[in-house]
Amino acid sequence: MEKYIINGGHKLSGELSIQGAKNSVLPILAATVISGKTSVISNIPKLRDVDIMIKILSSLGAGVTLDDDVIYVDSSTINKIEVPEELVREMRSSIIIMGAMLARFGEVKIAFPGGCEIGPRPIDLHLKSLRQMGAVIEEAHGFLECKTTGLKGCEIQLDYPSVGATENIMLAAVTAEGVTTIRNAAREPEIVDLQYYLNEAGARIVGAGTSIITIEGVKELRDCKHRIIPDRIVAGTYMAAAAITKGEIIIKDIITDHLLSIIAKLREAGVIVYANGNALKVIGPNKLYALEMLQTLPYPGFPTDMQAQIMALLTIANGTSIVNETVFENRFKHAEELTRMGANIKTFGKVAVIKGVKELTGAKVAAKDLRGGAALVLAGLVAQGSTEIENIYHINRGYENMVENLRSLGADIKIIR
Ligand code: EPZ
Repeated sequence: MEKYIINGGHKLSGELSIQGAKNSVLPILAATVISGKTSVISNIPKLRDVDIMIKILSSLGAGVTLDDDVIYVDSSTINKIEVPEELVREMRSSIIIMGAMLARFGEVKIAFPGGCEIGPRPIDLHLKSLRQMGAVIEEAHGFLECKTTGLKGCEIQLDYPSVGATENIMLAAVTAEGVTTIRNAAREPEIVDLQYYLNEAGARIVGAGTSIITIEGVKELRDCKHRIIPDRIVAGTYMAAAAITKGEIIIKDIITDHLLSIIAKLREAGVIVYANGNALKVIGPNKLYALEMLQTLPYPGFPTDMQAQIMALLTIANGTSIVNETVFENRFKHAEELTRMGANIKTFGKVAVIKGVKELTGAKVAAKDLRGGAALVLAGLVAQGSTEIENIYHINRGYENMVENLRSLGADIKIIR
């Protein structure tokens, strides 16, 4: 299995452009099913999860071609309603294809997505909402068999602002009869990007980015083009890399507005951040300050997908920090691995206490999930000596060309097979 080998102690410097957002491209690729026409999507990141979504679309019969960072999807040729189980198991977020398939065909069979490394990942809010719109969903033998004679728009109150549930309802509502209103909707920028794509295809959606989204059902959609927004979590990860190595980097092709909670917490930790519309300069201080409280919350709160990366930073900050992971059940697996590198972290359920140490030392560690793996890379960049990171396939799910990018900024990192 491939591993990263990192020799720590090199300050990062230079410039970097940020890839398209994984959590935007996945729901938008699922949404291409609805139109039965051609969608041209650009700024596609080269990621394992994107490959899986392409396989899912192709397995359903869609024509999919990838030309550099542009994907052409012709969904007119889709002729199957069963999503392959092995692909759903590989990527639980493929559950958002349910709404799109119900909107297009009124039918879909999909394996129940298992939990994953960061928690049980239930889909009760997805199922409750789709049933409210008129889907009949049988759960048997690990599969979900969904049918409808026609989805009907309705008022949906989400118990929790779930990103995936919001997306699934939006997709199902696009061709439903009448108007669907989602209250307590997720407000993430990726939901706004999904609304842009769908409206470019002829949907009638307003309110994405707020807690109330209204979708007026339409009869059909059309060919369209769309460019994916930059990945705010990848941007935040490289910002943390500059911070932890006392480096100085410029990050380009981003939307600063999407990073405000990350910028605020990095500044609180003593990191210098100069921001303008689509670029940032990040300077790591000689000493990082501990954070009295870092609480992960739905957007616009601090993103759970940046929790592990900031925890890596806090392991060498001055003082003791508290991290409260309120979004997922089990998202501290990186703490144990950071401890092997000399960090002083104690976890109590969804709360972690990190006492800053003078320095980390390189060690053999293993990535347990996508963002936890990124945190280990950050720790390896600053640790004394060599760090070996196993299971880097987790990291490749969300980071395009991580080794090339870090090497271009001066890091001593390589892949061994
Ligand atoms: C999306 O996951 C992202 N994935 C996650 O990014 C991100 O961490 C998460 O949103 C929160 O921002 C994609 O967009 C592909 P949720 P999703 O539904 O949709 C509970 C990464 O690292 N919940 O908002 O699965 C759930 O268990 C990944 O890029 C229910 O209880 O997140 C969790 O505790 C990781 N019932 C919380 O809500 C449901 O029906 C948030 O989940 C649905 C969710």
